[in-house]
Amino acid sequence: MTNGCRVTDPKDSPGSTQAEVNTDEVSIARVYDFCLGGKDNFAVDRAAAQAMMEVVPETPLLAQVNRCFLRQAVRYLAGEAGIDQIIDIGSGLPTAGNVHEIAQEKNPDARVVYVDNDPVVLAHARALLATDANTTVISADLREPDVIFGHPETRRLIDTSRPFAILLGGILMHLEDEEDPEGIAANLRDRLPAGGHLLVSNTCDTGEPRAAELARVFAENGMGTRCFRTWDEQIRYFDGLELVEPGLVPNNEWRPAGDVPDPDNPAHALHIGGLGRKVR
Ligand SMILES: C[S@@+](CC[C@H](N)C(=O)[O-])C[C@H]1O[C@@H](n2cnc3c(N)ncnc32)[C@H](O)[C@@H]1O
Repeated sequence: MTNGCRVTDPKDSPGSTQAEVNTDEVSIARVYDFCLGGKDNFAVDRAAAQAMMEVVPETPLLAQVNRCFLRQAVRYLAGEAGIDQIIDIGSGLPTAGNVHEIAQEKNPDARVVYVDNDPVVLAHARALLATDANTTVISADLREPDVIFGHPETRRLIDTSRPFAILLGGILMHLEDEEDPEGIAANLRDRLPAGGHLLVSNTCDTGEPRAAELARVFAENGMGTRCFRTWDEQIRYFDGLELVEPGLVPNNEWRPAGDVPDPDNPAHALHIGGLGRKVR
Protein backbone atom coordinates (compact mmCIF):
# COMPACT_ATOMS: atom_id res chain seq x y z
CA MET A 1 0.00 0.00 0.00
CA THR A 2 1.03 3.57 -0.44
CA ASN A 3 0.24 6.20 2.11
CA GLY A 4 0.41 9.09 -0.28
CA CYS A 5 1.51 11.75 2.15
CA ARG A 6 4.26 13.11 4.29
CA VAL A 7 3.56 14.66 7.63
CA THR A 8 5.27 17.35 9.54
CA ASP A 9 5.31 15.64 12.90
CA PRO A 10 3.65 18.04 15.35
CA LYS A 11 6.14 16.92 17.98
CA ASP A 12 8.92 18.37 15.84
CA SER A 13 6.89 21.42 14.94
CA PRO A 14 5.08 22.52 18.09
CA GLY A 15 1.58 23.84 17.54
CA SER A 16 1.34 22.37 14.06
CA THR A 17 -0.82 19.47 12.97
CA GLN A 18 -0.35 20.11 9.27
CA ALA A 19 0.24 17.18 6.97
CA GLU A 20 1.96 17.62 3.64
CA VAL A 21 -0.21 15.44 1.49
CA ASN A 22 0.50 14.04 -1.93
CA THR A 23 -2.97 14.27 -3.40
CA ASP A 24 -1.96 12.13 -6.40
CA GLU A 25 -1.54 8.94 -4.38
CA VAL A 26 -4.34 6.85 -2.98
CA SER A 27 -4.51 6.19 0.76
CA ILE A 28 -6.51 3.26 2.15
CA ALA A 29 -7.38 5.35 5.22
CA ARG A 30 -8.81 8.16 3.06
CA VAL A 31 -10.71 5.77 0.75
CA TYR A 32 -12.25 4.22 3.86
CA ASP A 33 -13.05 7.70 5.17
CA PHE A 34 -14.88 8.44 1.91
CA CYS A 35 -16.87 5.19 2.20
CA LEU A 36 -17.89 6.24 5.71
CA GLY A 37 -19.14 9.60 4.42
CA GLY A 38 -16.12 11.55 5.76
CA LYS A 39 -14.51 14.66 4.29
CA ASP A 40 -10.81 13.78 4.69
CA ASN A 41 -10.29 12.43 1.19
CA PHE A 42 -9.21 13.60 -2.26
CA ALA A 43 -10.32 13.02 -5.86
CA VAL A 44 -7.83 10.17 -6.26
CA ASP A 45 -9.31 8.40 -3.20
CA ARG A 46 -12.87 8.93 -4.40
CA ALA A 47 -11.98 7.56 -7.84
CA ALA A 48 -10.55 4.42 -6.22
CA ALA A 49 -13.70 4.00 -4.11
CA GLN A 50 -15.80 4.50 -7.23
CA ALA A 51 -13.87 1.74 -9.02
CA MET A 52 -14.68 -0.64 -6.15
CA MET A 53 -18.33 0.42 -6.17
CA GLU A 54 -18.58 -0.51 -9.84
CA VAL A 55 -17.83 -4.10 -8.80
CA VAL A 56 -19.58 -4.09 -5.42
CA PRO A 57 -22.00 -1.16 -5.12
CA GLU A 58 -22.40 -2.04 -1.44
CA THR A 59 -18.73 -1.08 -0.72
CA PRO A 60 -19.73 1.93 1.48
CA LEU A 61 -22.35 -0.22 3.22
CA LEU A 62 -19.69 -2.79 4.14
CA ALA A 63 -17.44 -0.06 5.58
CA GLN A 64 -20.29 1.46 7.58
CA VAL A 65 -21.36 -1.91 8.99
CA ASN A 66 -17.76 -2.74 9.87
CA ARG A 67 -17.92 0.37 12.09
CA CYS A 68 -21.24 -0.84 13.59
CA PHE A 69 -19.49 -4.12 14.51
CA LEU A 70 -16.49 -2.26 15.93
CA ARG A 71 -18.69 0.00 18.07
CA GLN A 72 -20.68 -2.94 19.42
CA ALA A 73 -17.55 -4.93 20.20
CA VAL A 74 -15.94 -1.96 22.00
CA ARG A 75 -19.15 -1.41 24.02
CA TYR A 76 -18.97 -5.06 25.01
CA LEU A 77 -15.26 -4.82 25.87
CA ALA A 78 -15.51 -1.67 27.98
CA GLY A 79 -18.80 -2.74 29.57
CA GLU A 80 -19.49 -6.44 30.11
CA ALA A 81 -15.88 -7.58 29.72
CA GLY A 82 -14.46 -4.85 31.99
CA ILE A 83 -11.60 -4.00 29.60
CA ASP A 84 -10.13 -0.53 30.24
CA GLN A 85 -7.08 -0.68 27.91
CA ILE A 86 -7.26 -1.01 24.13
CA ILE A 87 -4.69 -1.02 21.32
CA ASP A 88 -6.41 -0.29 17.99
CA ILE A 89 -4.03 -1.28 15.17
CA GLY A 90 -4.92 0.11 11.72
CA SER A 91 -7.22 2.60 13.41
CA GLY A 92 -7.92 4.71 10.32
CA LEU A 93 -8.84 8.38 10.28
CA PRO A 94 -10.95 9.76 13.12
CA THR A 95 -14.63 9.27 12.34
CA ALA A 96 -18.00 9.36 14.09
CA GLY A 97 -17.92 7.01 17.07
CA ASN A 98 -14.17 6.68 17.59
CA VAL A 99 -13.00 3.76 19.74
CA HIS A 100 -11.93 5.97 22.68
CA GLU A 101 -15.27 7.80 22.65
CA ILE A 102 -17.26 4.54 22.72
CA ALA A 103 -15.02 3.00 25.40
CA GLN A 104 -15.04 6.13 27.56
CA GLU A 105 -18.85 6.29 27.41
CA LYS A 106 -18.75 2.99 29.32
CA ASN A 107 -15.67 3.73 31.38
CA PRO A 108 -14.33 7.32 31.47
CA ASP A 109 -10.92 5.99 32.58
CA ALA A 110 -10.52 3.73 29.54
CA ARG A 111 -7.16 4.11 27.78
CA VAL A 112 -6.70 3.77 24.04
CA VAL A 113 -3.56 3.58 21.88
CA TYR A 114 -4.29 4.13 18.19
CA VAL A 115 -1.74 2.70 15.74
CA ASP A 116 -1.56 3.29 11.99
CA ASN A 117 1.18 3.38 9.37
CA ASP A 118 -0.47 6.17 7.34
CA PRO A 119 1.04 9.49 8.47
CA VAL A 120 -2.12 11.41 7.67
CA VAL A 121 -3.88 9.38 10.37
CA LEU A 122 -1.24 10.45 12.85
CA ALA A 123 -1.73 14.14 12.05
CA HIS A 124 -5.53 14.05 12.23
CA ALA A 125 -5.68 11.89 15.33
CA ARG A 126 -3.15 14.03 17.19
CA ALA A 127 -5.30 17.06 16.55
CA LEU A 128 -8.38 15.22 17.85
CA LEU A 129 -6.65 13.79 20.91
CA ALA A 130 -4.67 16.84 21.99
CA THR A 131 -6.67 17.22 25.20
CA ASP A 132 -7.19 13.56 26.15
CA ALA A 133 -4.42 12.24 28.41
CA ASN A 134 -5.81 8.68 28.29
CA THR A 135 -5.64 8.39 24.51
CA THR A 136 -2.72 8.52 22.12
CA VAL A 137 -1.78 7.75 18.54
CA ILE A 138 1.47 6.28 17.29
CA SER A 139 2.87 5.75 13.83
CA ALA A 140 3.82 2.09 13.54
CA ASP A 141 3.26 -0.96 11.39
CA LEU A 142 1.22 -4.06 12.19
CA ARG A 143 4.10 -6.15 10.87
CA GLU A 144 6.36 -4.87 13.67
CA PRO A 145 4.62 -5.79 16.94
CA ASP A 146 7.83 -5.22 18.93
CA VAL A 147 7.85 -1.58 17.78
CA ILE A 148 4.18 -1.14 18.77
CA PHE A 149 4.62 -2.70 22.22
CA GLY A 150 8.00 -1.09 22.84
CA HIS A 151 6.77 2.42 21.98
CA PRO A 152 6.94 4.77 24.99
CA GLU A 153 3.30 5.81 24.49
CA THR A 154 2.11 2.19 24.51
CA ARG A 155 4.15 1.54 27.64
CA ARG A 156 2.74 4.69 29.24
CA LEU A 157 -0.91 3.77 28.68
CA ILE A 158 -1.07 -0.03 28.52
CA ASP A 159 -0.19 -2.26 31.47
CA THR A 160 0.33 -5.57 29.67
CA SER A 161 0.18 -7.52 32.94
CA ARG A 162 -3.53 -6.66 33.15
CA PRO A 163 -6.22 -7.66 30.60
CA PHE A 164 -6.24 -5.47 27.52
CA ALA A 165 -7.72 -5.72 24.05
CA ILE A 166 -6.10 -5.59 20.62
CA LEU A 167 -8.32 -4.47 17.74
CA LEU A 168 -7.48 -5.55 14.18
CA GLY A 169 -10.43 -4.03 12.33
CA GLY A 170 -10.08 -4.35 8.55
CA ILE A 171 -6.29 -4.65 8.54
CA LEU A 172 -5.10 -8.29 8.30
CA MET A 173 -6.74 -8.37 4.86
CA HIS A 174 -4.12 -5.84 3.73
CA LEU A 175 -1.32 -8.37 4.33
CA GLU A 176 -0.18 -10.83 1.67
CA ASP A 177 0.13 -14.50 2.63
CA GLU A 178 3.93 -14.03 2.49
CA GLU A 179 3.64 -11.39 5.20
CA ASP A 180 2.24 -14.10 7.47
CA PRO A 181 -1.01 -12.64 8.85
CA GLU A 182 -1.56 -15.83 10.90
CA GLY A 183 1.90 -15.52 12.48
CA ILE A 184 1.27 -11.86 13.30
CA ALA A 185 -2.10 -12.69 14.88
CA ALA A 186 -0.37 -15.43 16.91
CA ASN A 187 2.36 -13.01 18.01
CA LEU A 188 -0.29 -10.55 19.22
CA ARG A 189 -2.36 -13.27 20.96
CA ASP A 190 0.75 -14.39 22.83
CA ARG A 191 1.09 -10.90 24.32
CA LEU A 192 -2.39 -11.01 25.87
CA PRO A 193 -2.69 -12.02 29.51
CA ALA A 194 -5.66 -14.14 30.67
CA GLY A 195 -8.80 -12.07 30.22
CA GLY A 196 -7.31 -10.21 27.23
CA HIS A 197 -9.26 -9.99 23.96
CA LEU A 198 -8.46 -9.96 20.23
CA LEU A 199 -10.88 -8.43 17.71
CA VAL A 200 -10.54 -9.24 14.01
CA SER A 201 -12.63 -8.15 11.03
CA ASN A 202 -11.88 -8.61 7.34
CA THR A 203 -13.37 -9.09 3.94
CA CYS A 204 -14.39 -12.71 3.41
CA ASP A 205 -14.16 -15.08 0.43
CA THR A 206 -17.69 -16.45 0.18
CA GLY A 207 -17.05 -18.09 -3.17
CA GLU A 208 -18.79 -15.36 -5.12
CA PRO A 209 -16.86 -14.05 -8.16
CA ARG A 210 -17.12 -10.42 -7.04
CA ALA A 211 -14.61 -11.10 -4.25
CA ALA A 212 -11.74 -11.84 -6.64
CA GLU A 213 -12.83 -8.98 -8.90
CA LEU A 214 -12.80 -6.53 -5.99
CA ALA A 215 -9.33 -7.67 -4.88
CA ARG A 216 -8.10 -7.01 -8.45
CA VAL A 217 -9.67 -3.53 -8.62
CA PHE A 218 -8.18 -2.69 -5.22
CA ALA A 219 -4.65 -3.52 -6.39
CA GLU A 220 -5.08 -1.86 -9.80
CA ASN A 221 -6.14 1.40 -8.15
CA GLY A 222 -2.99 1.79 -6.11
CA MET A 223 -4.33 0.50 -2.80
CA GLY A 224 -2.15 -2.60 -2.57
CA THR A 225 -3.48 -5.84 -1.16
CA ARG A 226 -6.99 -6.60 -0.04
CA CYS A 227 -7.15 -10.37 0.40
CA PHE A 228 -10.46 -12.17 0.58
CA ARG A 229 -9.75 -15.15 2.85
CA THR A 230 -12.30 -17.81 3.70
CA TRP A 231 -14.03 -18.14 7.09
CA ASP A 232 -11.98 -21.34 7.68
CA GLU A 233 -8.75 -19.41 7.11
CA GLN A 234 -9.80 -16.49 9.31
CA ILE A 235 -11.01 -18.53 12.27
CA ARG A 236 -7.34 -19.46 12.79
CA TYR A 237 -6.63 -15.88 13.89
CA PHE A 238 -8.45 -16.84 17.10
CA ASP A 239 -6.54 -20.10 17.80
CA GLY A 240 -6.46 -20.82 21.53
CA LEU A 241 -9.01 -18.09 22.32
CA GLU A 242 -12.62 -18.54 23.39
CA LEU A 243 -14.93 -16.83 20.88
CA VAL A 244 -17.36 -14.34 22.37
CA GLU A 245 -20.91 -15.08 21.14
CA PRO A 246 -22.02 -15.05 18.33
CA GLY A 247 -18.53 -16.00 17.06
CA LEU A 248 -16.98 -15.07 13.71
CA VAL A 249 -19.97 -13.86 11.69
CA PRO A 250 -20.93 -11.27 9.06
CA ASN A 251 -20.48 -7.85 10.67
CA ASN A 252 -24.23 -7.13 10.60
CA GLU A 253 -24.90 -10.21 12.78
CA TRP A 254 -22.52 -9.39 15.64
CA ARG A 255 -24.90 -8.28 18.41
CA PRO A 256 -26.54 -5.63 16.16
CA ALA A 257 -27.68 -2.52 17.97
CA GLY A 258 -30.37 -1.58 15.47
CA ASP A 259 -28.10 0.88 13.64
CA VAL A 260 -27.14 -1.48 10.79
CA PRO A 261 -28.21 0.03 7.45
CA ASP A 262 -29.86 -2.34 4.94
CA PRO A 263 -29.54 -5.29 7.35
CA ASP A 264 -30.84 -7.95 4.95
CA ASN A 265 -28.50 -7.13 2.05
CA PRO A 266 -26.72 -10.40 1.02
CA ALA A 267 -23.46 -8.43 0.50
CA HIS A 268 -22.98 -8.43 4.29
CA ALA A 269 -21.54 -11.94 3.92
CA LEU A 270 -18.47 -10.33 2.31
CA HIS A 271 -17.23 -8.80 5.60
CA ILE A 272 -16.94 -10.80 8.82
CA GLY A 273 -15.79 -10.06 12.33
CA GLY A 274 -15.33 -11.67 15.71
CA LEU A 275 -13.92 -11.24 19.18
CA GLY A 276 -11.88 -13.81 21.08
CA ARG A 277 -11.01 -13.97 24.77
CA LYS A 278 -7.91 -15.53 26.24
CA VAL A 279 -9.00 -17.79 29.04
CA ARG A 280 -5.56 -18.69 30.40
C1 LIG B 1 -9.95 -0.31 6.28
S1 LIG B 1 -9.14 0.77 7.41
C2 LIG B 1 -9.83 0.16 8.94
C3 LIG B 1 -10.04 1.22 10.00
C4 LIG B 1 -10.60 0.73 11.32
N1 LIG B 1 -9.71 -0.22 11.96
C5 LIG B 1 -11.95 0.11 11.17
O1 LIG B 1 -12.08 -1.14 11.26
O2 LIG B 1 -12.93 0.84 10.98
C6 LIG B 1 -7.49 0.06 7.44
C7 LIG B 1 -6.46 0.93 8.14
O3 LIG B 1 -5.31 0.12 8.34
C8 LIG B 1 -4.16 0.89 8.06
N2 LIG B 1 -3.08 -0.05 7.70
C9 LIG B 1 -2.99 -0.84 6.59
N3 LIG B 1 -1.89 -1.60 6.65
C10 LIG B 1 -1.27 -1.30 7.82
C11 LIG B 1 -0.08 -1.78 8.46
N4 LIG B 1 0.69 -2.70 7.88
N5 LIG B 1 0.26 -1.26 9.67
C12 LIG B 1 -0.52 -0.30 10.26
N6 LIG B 1 -1.65 0.19 9.70
C13 LIG B 1 -2.02 -0.31 8.49
C14 LIG B 1 -4.58 1.82 6.94
O4 LIG B 1 -3.75 2.98 6.88
C15 LIG B 1 -6.01 2.14 7.34
O5 LIG B 1 -6.07 3.29 8.14
